[in-house]
Amino acid sequence: MKADICDADAVATVFKEYAIDGVIHLAAESHVDRSITDPLAFVRTNVFGTVTLLNAAKEAWKGAMDGKRFYHVSTDEVYGSLHDDSLFLETTPYDPQSPYSASKAASDHFVRAYGNTYKLPFVLSNCSNNYGSHHFPEKLIPLMINNIRNNKPLPVYGKGENVRDWLWVEDHASAIDTIFHTGKNGETYNIGGHNEWKNIDLVHLLCRIMDQKLGRAEGESAKLITYVTDRAGHDLRYAIDAGKIERELGWKPSITFEVGLERTVEWYLANTEWLDHVTSGAYQQYYSAHYAQQ
Ligand code: TYD
Repeated sequence: MKADICDADAVATVFKEYAIDGVIHLAAESHVDRSITDPLAFVRTNVFGTVTLLNAAKEAWKGAMDGKRFYHVSTDEVYGSLHDDSLFLETTPYDPQSPYSASKAASDHFVRAYGNTYKLPFVLSNCSNNYGSHHFPEKLIPLMINNIRNNKPLPVYGKGENVRDWLWVEDHASAIDTIFHTGKNGETYNIGGHNEWKNIDLVHLLCRIMDQKLGRAEGESAKLITYVTDRAGHDLRYAIDAGKIERELGWKPSITFEVGLERTVEWYLANTEWLDHVTSGAYQQYYSAHYAQQ
């Protein structure tokens, strides 16, 4: 069944009909740029939606919390922006800097508050940037792949010096599976790839891979790189210390970035119909409105 997490009746029906004893909550508005133009959409889905789900779980599990589990999947962006060479730990104080990360921080707080107040059994994880197949081309990697393919400018914000820690989406999925089944109630686990890249270096690497895959001369795609106005309040660096999940639950990433990125590019080039479909219609309006302001 497909339903809006803000629709309390629909969510309650799901709990009733399917005798649910575990929730893995990943539904969220997730693009920082969209949160800058429409913060309330993020409050609605990420805060109101999460609390709606929490309420449904609390009601359905009343008096029988044993063996139940509410898992909230969150982001490393709740910790704010790093300006030295340190890493985010599970104990790093929250310091969200964008409407998106503020909304995810709020939902994390609600999950913990339900654990404390109503004894709802929960686990939480905060993950670094994901990449892989089916990623909507509003985010850096799929947007760049799509634009390189179509010979369109590659919009790099500011000087391209911001740093992100990239994790293959299937490794994130395996971490979620591990935490859901073997994590401890009330605990938080950071998930990351130990894989930090400056945006500009990452875009150059993608250009090189795309040149090879498309049979272009080396350096051809990189000519499309265009520096544009920086994102408002752009976080400089995110980087995760994923030591706890490795030590306590035995999880670590399964593949290197080079392998994952090549697989990702191959997936997009083999699925151009999917790309063309998701970049038609509303995406065109989003793209021209957002990048016209640059
Ligand atoms: P993004 O994929 O939006 O993820 P997040 O903001 O959650 O980290 O962006 C990754 C980095 O790439 C971020 O520093 C912003 C930058 N970026 C660009 O330079 N150009 C773009 O067109 C986009 C979408 C992002």
